[in-house]
Amino acid sequence: MTAHVDKTPATSPADDEIADLATARNHLQVRQTAIYVYEWPVRLWHWTNALAILVLAVTGYLIGSPPGSQPGEASDAYLMGYIRFAHFAAGFVMAIGMAGRIYWAFVGNVHARQMFVLPFWSGKFWREVLIEAQWYAFMRDYPKKYIGHNPLAQLAMVTIYSLGSIFMIVTGFALYSEGAGQGSWLDTLFGWVIPLAGNSQNLHTIHHLGMWVIVTFVIIHVYAAIREDIMSRQSMISTMISGWRMFKDDGK
Ligand code: HEM
Ligand code: HEM
Repeated sequence: MTAHVDKTPATSPADDEIADLATARNHLQVRQTAIYVYEWPVRLWHWTNALAILVLAVTGYLIGSPPGSQPGEASDAYLMGYIRFAHFAAGFVMAIGMAGRIYWAFVGNVHARQMFVLPFWSGKFWREVLIEAQWYAFMRDYPKKYIGHNPLAQLAMVTIYSLGSIFMIVTGFALYSEGAGQGSWLDTLFGWVIPLAGNSQNLHTIHHLGMWVIVTFVIIHVYAAIREDIMSRQSMISTMISGWRMFKDDGK
């Protein structure tokens, strides 16, 4: 009969301590600092707005390139009716969300304002935009650390997203005001945009082109969020979920 041999060495509490010390010497010790950055209204707005934009882009594309006509009585299918309804409903979500987000820029913390302000006259800001661009282009070994958005992200958010989405809301409601009819409150608020664009068809075209600007922003934004989550020195996606930014290498 062979006796069972336990290969695991018996350890006493003292041995454990030595093992831990050895482990600690062989590993880089890392301390993490956490800072609360994005308050709940910003996070709620971010994810609701992302969903609304997804619906708007898909339904908007289908309004511009409609699926083939449905067989049978038009009122039985009502396909374009549902597509347009989803577009308008998501349009209202986006517009009300943007109004709430602008309000929060006034009453929220300093990071809630970043999406709307550009330190245009600050040489340091533009130098750091360049440094970030080099980091994104794999021309630098280390990125800098930022509590809020990095300067390049801030530049894109203000110029492409904030201005772009206000453009989409104004042109979208101007198109909607045509259906709401002359004298309606939507016509009073947004009707003036149609002659400014020349005619309704031009307005459709620029609203459509705006979609591709927003879609391009989203593709680059999601790439950057995932890339920075992995490669930067701070947390990203979890920050837009929990609000807390963790810094990965404070012990260094
Ligand atoms: C239609 C889709 C999306 C749009 C339009 C959008 C837009 C934005 C905007 C405007 C901000 C700035 C927020 C502020 O300052 O209040 C932001 C931040 C952020 N978004 Fe999105 N987003 C979208 C989808 C996503 C997705 C899918 C992810 C995750 C993969 C994501 C991750 C983030 C992160 C991590 C931040 C914070 C970045 C930082 O801390 O500097 N976004 N997004
Ligand atoms: C990021 C946001 C948005 C995107 C990507 C988007 C996209 C589009 C696209 C691609 C079209 C088709 C244009 C064409 O080729 O004729 C369209 C039409 C339209 N959109 Fe938007 N849109 C957005 C926001 C809005 C908003 C906020 C409203 C306001 C309610 C709106 C209202 C409309 C209306 C009324 C039409 C015309 C529908 C028709 O003629 O049947 N859109 N949108």
